[in-house]
Amino acid sequence: MKSWFRGAGFLAGTAFVLGMASAAHAADAKRGQFGKLDDGTMIETVTLTNDHGMSVTTMTLGASVQTLSVPDRDGKSDDIVLGYDSPAEYLADPQYFGATVGRFANRIDKGRFTLDGKQYQLEINDGPNTLHGGSQGFDKRVWTIDSVKSGPTASVTYRYKSVDGEGGYPGTLNVTATYSLGEDNALHISYRATTNAPTIVNISNHSYWNLGGATANTGSMDDLLTINASAFTPVSDTLIPTGEVRPVDGTPFDFRTPTRIGDRVRDGSSEQIRYGHGIDHNFVIDGEAGTMRRMARVEDPDSGRVLEIWGDGPALQFYSGNFLDGTMLGKGKHIYREGDALVFEPQLYPDAPNHPNFPSARLDPGDTYSNDIIFKFSTADE
Ligand code: GLA
Repeated sequence: MKSWFRGAGFLAGTAFVLGMASAAHAADAKRGQFGKLDDGTMIETVTLTNDHGMSVTTMTLGASVQTLSVPDRDGKSDDIVLGYDSPAEYLADPQYFGATVGRFANRIDKGRFTLDGKQYQLEINDGPNTLHGGSQGFDKRVWTIDSVKSGPTASVTYRYKSVDGEGGYPGTLNVTATYSLGEDNALHISYRATTNAPTIVNISNHSYWNLGGATANTGSMDDLLTINASAFTPVSDTLIPTGEVRPVDGTPFDFRTPTRIGDRVRDGSSEQIRYGHGIDHNFVIDGEAGTMRRMARVEDPDSGRVLEIWGDGPALQFYSGNFLDGTMLGKGKHIYREGDALVFEPQLYPDAPNHPNFPSARLDPGDTYSNDIIFKFSTADE
């Protein structure tokens, strides 16, 4: 009895000390509201904040990143993701600002694929192809909040049930997207999905990064980019992979050493750059899929902000913001123009279901799809 009492006292004391420690270094998760959709649905938010000047607001619409602030080299925090000021604008958005994209991120050739001998036709929403799951993909859905946690690591998990036949896809898919933030200024995103019938899955995040600040009057073309990829997948003029896996050697797609992005996106001698209006390609990341590894690093020389993209998937879609054409009014009525921001989507290869030589996008009942991504921020000296 006595020893039990002493033990409990010891534990209580430890909890007290740990409590103090985590109070000093606690990341906080706080719920809020963004506004209502026209049908009255309230879009809820969860903001994760740490003690190192980083905060990220995510929301139930598209399980999206709505704002993300991190310090520059002088310690000044700014929002560095493109987006809008109201839910209605996100719903009308053709750019997928900050969104979770799925059921199949990127394009599927003519929206067609075959599974176990049966052909499926998806909704066509991008020229002749399906893009990011169709016009009512995961980005346009209102997700529910599953759990919200504060602590040394703050987190929020969103959930969405995509019913059998939605967008043309087979199988009811149960999806979660978890955002977590600790004290190391790294935002972790984990996607998980299970199905009740064989289907295809490819889920990623579609944040647009302008490391100089989302409302800065400079774009991202001066940023220095490194991508740890020795090969990429060339595309057709409708941005569908041809099936070839081409070494980057001697091409404008060789980013294995830090390279100013603006020096590559105007290279019209490359048919591939012409097709993408810049870079809009899938890079095959070196190292082993299934292991978390650094995929890319971007450094903004002005602000000193550095973003590292880590992931455990096989590939990374890098899109240099080529379709930001000055017609979009974003946060604070700021006009977004070509090359203002960069998108890095760690994922499977685009159009994977139509290329047996690409890693498979198939998900069977009993298996769990997973994709883990880290966006890690730091600063570089001048
Ligand atoms: C992806 C595609 C791009 C473009 C954007 C959304 O990144 O690869 O071609 O469609 O989404 O605008």
